[in-house]
Amino acid sequence: MTTRAVAIGIGHYLPARVVPNSEFEKTLDTSDEWIRSRSGIERRHFAAEGEMTSDLAVKAANAALTNAGLKADDLDAVIVATSTPDLTFPSVATMVQGKLGMTRGFGFDVQAVCAGFIFALANASALIAAGQANRVMVIGAETFSRIIDWEDRSTCVLFGDGAGALILEGQDAAGTPGDRGVLATDLNSDGRYRDMLYVDGGVSSTGTAGKLRMQGNPLFRQAVEKLTSTAHKALEKAKLTEKDVDWIVPHQANIRIIQGTAKKMGLPMDNVIVTVQDHGNTSAASIPLALSVGVAEGKIKRGQLLVAEAIGGGLAWGAVVLRW
Ligand code: UT7
Repeated sequence: MTTRAVAIGIGHYLPARVVPNSEFEKTLDTSDEWIRSRSGIERRHFAAEGEMTSDLAVKAANAALTNAGLKADDLDAVIVATSTPDLTFPSVATMVQGKLGMTRGFGFDVQAVCAGFIFALANASALIAAGQANRVMVIGAETFSRIIDWEDRSTCVLFGDGAGALILEGQDAAGTPGDRGVLATDLNSDGRYRDMLYVDGGVSSTGTAGKLRMQGNPLFRQAVEKLTSTAHKALEKAKLTEKDVDWIVPHQANIRIIQGTAKKMGLPMDNVIVTVQDHGNTSAASIPLALSVGVAEGKIKRGQLLVAEAIGGGLAWGAVVLRW
C-alpha cells in the first residue's frame, strides 16, 4: 500500500483580451505567416491593466474548486508556480489564499519558469506522500506580457497570459503502475545555460522587473532533446514505457518542439494535447491550461496515462507521469 496524489479537480482562466498575430504586423517587421509557421501560435490572451497574476490564479482556483466540489478551507496547501508575481513578496500563493478566504493551511510559490508547474506538482506529490498535507492545489499563473520587450520581434510574439489550477488529494493505492495519481517525477536544472533564457532585471541587481531575453534557436535544440529524455526517465521510474502513454501534455512553447518531442517519443500527434495556437507560451500556466482544456474537451478521461513535460529558463526541465 502507498499514498498517491490523485487529481480531483481542474480549472483554468484566460484574460478577456485576445490578441491575434495580425496585431503585431502593425508595429513590427513580422507577419502572421512567420509566427504561425515558426511557432504554431495564432493568438494569445493578455491581462487587462491592473489585472494581476494573483487575479488570474484565483479565477482558475475557483474553477478547480467548483470542479472538485470543494471549498477553499477543504485545502491544506496552495502552491503557485510563477515567474511574474504581483509583488516581490508576499508570495502569490498567500495572496490567493487571502482572496479565496482560506484561513487554514499554507501557501508558497515555486519559481522554475516554464517548468514551474512540473516542479510544483512534484513538490505537491512529495508533500502528500510525506503526510505534510492531504489536499494541495497546484496553480500555474503568469502575466508574461509585463516582462516582454515589445520591440523585440523574436520574443514578443511568442508569449501570453493565463492560469490553470489542479487539485490533488492523497489516496490509498496499491503502489503499482496501474494506480491513479502521480506515478513518477523527474526534475533537472543546469545553470550553465543561464544566458539562453533570462530576464535582464531583478530586485537584487537592477531594482527593476526587467525584460525577457531569449536565444530561441539554441534553446529550441536543447528543448527537444531534454524533453524527450526527461519524459523517458519519468516513465522508466514509473515502470512504464512510451507505449503506455495515452496523452502527452507538453509545455506549449512551440508546435515544432511539441511535434519533435512526440516524434522522438514514438507517439503520433493524435496523442498530444495542443493549445499553443490559442494561448501562445504562458510559461508555468501552459501545462495546467492544456490539461484543463484537454479534460473540458472530453479528450482526457479517468484512468488514462498522461506525461507532462516542460523546459524553461535556468535551464530547468522535468516531467511528471500521472494517471488521470
Ligand atoms: O518556454 C521556454 C522554452 N521556449 C522555447 O523553447 C522557445 C524555443 N525557440 C523557438 O521556439 C524558436 O527558436 C523561435 C520560434 C523563437 C524562432 O524560430 P527559429 O526557427 O529558431 O528561427 P530563428 O531564430 O533561427 O530565426 C529565423 C529568422 C531570423 O532572421 P535571419 O537572421 O535568418 O535573417 C530572425 O531574425 O527569423 C527572424 N525572426 C522573425 N521574422 C519575422 C525572428 N523573429 C521574427 C518575427 N517575425 N517575429
